[in-house]
Amino acid sequence: MLTTILNLPQASTAAGSVDALFDFIFWISVIGFVAVMVALAYFMVKYRARYHSEDKVPQLEGHTPSEVGVSLILLVIVMIIFAWGWKGYKEIVTIPRDALEISVVGKQWLWDFEYKNGRKMTNEVVVPLGKPIKFVMTSSDVLHSFYVPNFRVKQDAVPNRYTYVSFTPTQVGEHHVFCAEYCGTAHSSMLATVKVVDENEYQRWQQVWEYDQKTGGEFSKKIASPEDNSMTPVQRGEKLYSSKACNTCHTTTGQKLVGPTFKGIYGKEEKMSDGTIVKIDENYLRESIVDPQAKIVEGFAPVMPTYKGTLSDREIGDIIEFIKSLEK
Ligand code: CUA
Repeated sequence: MLTTILNLPQASTAAGSVDALFDFIFWISVIGFVAVMVALAYFMVKYRARYHSEDKVPQLEGHTPSEVGVSLILLVIVMIIFAWGWKGYKEIVTIPRDALEISVVGKQWLWDFEYKNGRKMTNEVVVPLGKPIKFVMTSSDVLHSFYVPNFRVKQDAVPNRYTYVSFTPTQVGEHHVFCAEYCGTAHSSMLATVKVVDENEYQRWQQVWEYDQKTGGEFSKKIASPEDNSMTPVQRGEKLYSSKACNTCHTTTGQKLVGPTFKGIYGKEEKMSDGTIVKIDENYLRESIVDPQAKIVEGFAPVMPTYKGTLSDREIGDIIEFIKSLEK
């Protein structure tokens, strides 16, 4: 039902049983609805008012066998749904010991992921096919909820505590992550992707990164796509602008969102919330990326998460170059 009507792939081991229970409840409801409507129509005809009849409809006080019978049938159905749901729930919350652990932080308004080897990603995470995955989640500000419809999993990310979401992906490809808890202005654009690749590809992907970390980018320099190497800092910054989710809060069109627009901001003199006037230069932009709370432009809320540790120095430089390239 879910799969066919909503075109939702069953991309985790839990999806099948979640859908089966959903279908069961759905069809029970359909059967119940039809039965009530048929009975209603039957009694309306049977006990309709007749013009020439003086007879009164007899007053019924109750019918114990019917009442007990219906109650028992309903009880059995509810117990089936409970037992079935309990079984599926246990499968989802029982996390295998060999699960691949990845930490997830929800922020206004992005998802940060970090692997055990220190590799960090924003709004995108890569996981191997067929392996149990465990996301250890928290939030750095308000309630968020990590929701992957294709995997049929949803779990709140709560500030100051850890929650878990676990699944075993069964389909290669990109699966959408939504935030399912209203968390402020850009809640609806708090999107991410879980990219499922086969085990070998995953291992290679991690090894390349680890080798690069040790050698200062040896591997990437040699085999990086020619496109990547030939890109200018402005082009790289533009790519980061969307891949690191800057675009959730900052436009390049002059429109004001949660944060100031990037258009024409470089070189401008801005009034801060403490009344001081600050010239927007490279140092101001850098500080705003690594320590966003240090200076807040008047009229804006101090809600930006720090990108310290998420962006390398080179990437920060690229983003600054991109901002500088946006004319007034
Ligand atoms: Cu985060 Cu809604």
